[in-house]
Amino acid sequence: MAVRKIEDNIYSVGAIDWDRRLFDELIPLPEGTSYNSYIIKGSEKAALIDTVNPTKIDELLANLEQLGISKIDYIISHHAEQDHSGGIPDVLDKFPQVKVVTNPKCKTFLMELLLIPEDKFIQKSDGDKLSLGDKTLEFIIAPWVHWPETMLTYIHQDKIIFTCDFFGSHLATPNLFAEDEDSLYISAKRYYAEIMMPFRKTVRNNLDKIKDYDIQIIAPSHGPLHNNPKFIMDAYRDWTSDEVKNQVLVPYISMHGSTEIMVEKLVDKLLQEGIYVKPFHITHTDIGELAMALVDCATVVLGTPTVLAGAHPQAIYAVFLLNALRPKIKFISVIGSYGWGGRTLEQIQSIITNLDAELIPPVIIKGYPKQDDIKAVESLAETIAQKHKQAGIF
Ligand code: FEO
Repeated sequence: MAVRKIEDNIYSVGAIDWDRRLFDELIPLPEGTSYNSYIIKGSEKAALIDTVNPTKIDELLANLEQLGISKIDYIISHHAEQDHSGGIPDVLDKFPQVKVVTNPKCKTFLMELLLIPEDKFIQKSDGDKLSLGDKTLEFIIAPWVHWPETMLTYIHQDKIIFTCDFFGSHLATPNLFAEDEDSLYISAKRYYAEIMMPFRKTVRNNLDKIKDYDIQIIAPSHGPLHNNPKFIMDAYRDWTSDEVKNQVLVPYISMHGSTEIMVEKLVDKLLQEGIYVKPFHITHTDIGELAMALVDCATVVLGTPTVLAGAHPQAIYAVFLLNALRPKIKFISVIGSYGWGGRTLEQIQSIITNLDAELIPPVIIKGYPKQDDIKAVESLAETIAQKHKQAGIF
């Protein structure tokens, strides 16, 4: 990625990963990603804000060279995950006098993950400042966006906040700043759903923590920068609120078609009830899409057949993710068909211990759905509609 100027003496020097398609061997990246790194040249000192994934370190070093940077005084490390910290050892090799500035928790992680020696660090706490001469950095501890050690950096003179993963998006784009907010909204929501949603209340606290800062630019560590901070901060306020929408998500899988018929009947009836319903075939669906749909929805109905005396293993994977992502859903239920028996419901209930959702009586039937079974599915849809109305979800 080319060097790009953000403000006087503040440059973007990171890398775009156009072709990466999976993160953590788990999270799909349909639009690639970027590892944003920034150099701030003060009148006396220079600071590098985070680095890049180790695969892109040559690009970062070439960008610094292109800018004529012969001396860096500080690396500000916001977060120890290797897509931002993994280049630190190479930068230390090239600029041996550099000190790594971070908080005590992040320092411990960096020492453990990257074997950086203790004498390379300068520790900073919440609210501490660091002068670069004509620019002053303030450090803001913002835990659980999405690791416990994350911090942010605010430059008073330029009114820029560097937020690492917070407000980021996995989006490889040539645009330095967010140009198309409608499309960025989707990428940012997907990113929030995949990594921030499990820590929704702490994320909300961190939003409150920075609300009184005069911010003109938000510079995250993935995706484009925001020169309209209100857009992304309002979106985060909505996603982290306790409000849910009149939506039902139906992740399902079917082996011989019986569960699928039940899903179709449920979806039809929910639509008749005026509910926005989205069925997701578990094996065909990108889990990022599933996570994103969980951000707002009020109810999840899992559709699974019984196999090997329990829920289908693919359905168990979806339930495990649902539990780990901790969406703010209010209601949950299960539909499905079995051949001769099993403990599908008990198995699912034993997994969803993180969820604060009311279990609406499931509809688990034997064999092919008969007329009474269809009626039971339709009655479940009516109950969901009733529950939504009673809870004031419209
Ligand atoms: Fe982009 Fe949590 O690292």
